[in-house]
Amino acid sequence: MSTHSPHSMQPQSGRRPDRYSQASHATGLADTELSELSQGLLAPQASISPKYLYDTLGSKLFEALCLLPEYYPTRTEAAIFEARRSEIAQAVPRQAVLIDLGAGNCAKAETLFEPLRPSHYIAVDISADFVRSALRRLRPRHPGIRMQALGQDFSRGLELGDDVPSRGRLFFYPGSSLGNFAPPEARRFLRGLKESTADAASLLLGVDLVKDIEILQAAYDDALGVTSAFNLNVLRNINRILGTDFDVRHWQHIALFNPTHSRVEMHLQARHDVLVSWNGHSRRFSQGERIHTENSYKYTREGLAKLLEESGWTAGEFWTDEAEWFAVVHARSESTHP
Ligand code: AVJ
Repeated sequence: MSTHSPHSMQPQSGRRPDRYSQASHATGLADTELSELSQGLLAPQASISPKYLYDTLGSKLFEALCLLPEYYPTRTEAAIFEARRSEIAQAVPRQAVLIDLGAGNCAKAETLFEPLRPSHYIAVDISADFVRSALRRLRPRHPGIRMQALGQDFSRGLELGDDVPSRGRLFFYPGSSLGNFAPPEARRFLRGLKESTADAASLLLGVDLVKDIEILQAAYDDALGVTSAFNLNVLRNINRILGTDFDVRHWQHIALFNPTHSRVEMHLQARHDVLVSWNGHSRRFSQGERIHTENSYKYTREGLAKLLEESGWTAGEFWTDEAEWFAVVHARSESTHP
């Protein structure tokens, strides 16, 4: 998720600007995002940002893979919240302004409403319509909570309006979504949350932990092939967004644990030599060549505490399941008022 300036774009010989404008109009994507996508495909080590996994079908496939027996994070995290709800309620501030990062259908946050009794609920998600309709269902059920939906890609920093109270913020970032960031990006992101307010704030984070490599790899390469479909679907989405001519059948899902970086990586590997063309560009992939589509970093308790401290947060309570496969962590930041 690095930033590219327009100046670093490929030679423009075959570029048709009208096509770019049309594409961005059709998908609501900015030209910089489209050029970043192109850059990623043209790079020697090709990559596609994991945010493109989540079109409508991709979001459904993600929901489905969360139900797989191999994909332990979702149910393990839910079990921790269930078992520790009163301890969690004791630890975090009362009447908080609950800010849900990647709220989706808001189901996880709703389970916290009763024990935490937040005054406000701010649901932030890249999928604006999805989160707005979720709030329409939620509001009548919880009339005591002031709710706001924010449609926002916050991966490069969260933008909260002045109408979001600054005091008593509780950032909620579950599901190990933090794992998509490389450590420097994760630090930048966490620091940005802290710096969004001069008041004391809290953070409730759900993070996946390091464990046996077989368990990790099975979670990202399940027997039914749902994760494979989830990964391959990114090519359909890119065809729609960028106008590439990827043939999904030419690609194979790969998931592997990279111990050097303590992360599970997803790739798409060419089954044969293939040529992909779009909008004046083309890229040859040799058989076996890969497109990197996702990193999912796995933390240790110590590594997580260090990450939080380096980002200006004070690591507090740490809750985990019996097998220590997943962790929910509470962190605090002090007021910086003079
Ligand atoms: C939503 C980023 C937390 O990394 O486990 C699931 C996405 N990728 N299976 C994860 C995902 C493959 C998931 N996150």
